[in-house]
Amino acid sequence: MSETPLPTLSIVGGTGDLGSGLARSWSRAGYTVVLGSRSSERAEEMASLLRSEGFTSVAGETNAAAAAKSDIVIVAVPFSNYEASLAEIKDAAKSKIVVTAVVPLVPPKVSVVQLPAAGSAAVIAQSQLDPSTRVVGAFHNVGSQKLHAGSKADCDVLVFGDDADARTEVIKLADAVSNRGVDGGALANAAAAEALTSVLIWINRKYKVKGAGITISGLA
Ligand SMILES: NC(=O)c1ccc[n+]([C@@H]2O[C@H](COP(=O)([O-])OP(=O)(O)OC[C@H]3O[C@@H](n4cnc5c(N)ncnc54)[C@H](OP(=O)(O)O)[C@@H]3O)[C@@H](O)[C@H]2O)c1
Repeated sequence: MSETPLPTLSIVGGTGDLGSGLARSWSRAGYTVVLGSRSSERAEEMASLLRSEGFTSVAGETNAAAAAKSDIVIVAVPFSNYEASLAEIKDAAKSKIVVTAVVPLVPPKVSVVQLPAAGSAAVIAQSQLDPSTRVVGAFHNVGSQKLHAGSKADCDVLVFGDDADARTEVIKLADAVSNRGVDGGALANAAAAEALTSVLIWINRKYKVKGAGITISGLA
């Protein structure tokens, strides 16, 4: 029996720290990844670097073109440019799953929780994108170091969304790059993981470590 082909992934902000780390990890796991950028040149430059490392199934495009060429879109940009990035992909992301890893950090106090009035970055995405787009929040608490270093992130990934099938799809993506994906329920619950990132940044600083993460106890 033939296996279901893996979805093609695009990463808005794929030239960045988290985006390129996720690209390396998903590429290693067999996914085709299209890196997105505000500049097609920067996207192709990063894609070329990854291909030179052996990740042959990586391409680079503008954010909108990358989203158009993929089945699932991952957004990994700074909160300061989040809404502009969502506008870039709004048309291309219609009827697709959009996964937002964006944490609403407000520099300079990034180790203090400062959630937006809307509740979370995840809820902002669902309100800005087309109603046919199923938004999922995930990867907020993943440090990029291990992804770049060639191993899975040593943590669980909480996955939030109002569509159960979309959560299931994204849990598979989390399983590919971390210890496991864990269903965290409704999209509004993403506020908890977004807030937790500031706590983890604090823990990293306090204990002089780089990759503090979370593991949910009590699961089989
Ligand atoms: N880094 C992590 O370990 C980590 C972990 C969990 C969650 N996150 C969250 O994931 C998101 C991305 O984090 P990151 O560390 O990967 O960010 P980053 O490296 O600073 O930026 C990612 C990409 O976003 C694009 N971008 C769009 N507008 C920008 C602006 N105004 N300033 C700078 N870059 C801009 C840039 O791509 P182009 O210039 O090519 O368009 C950049 O390469 C953030 O919301 C962060 O809180 C990060």
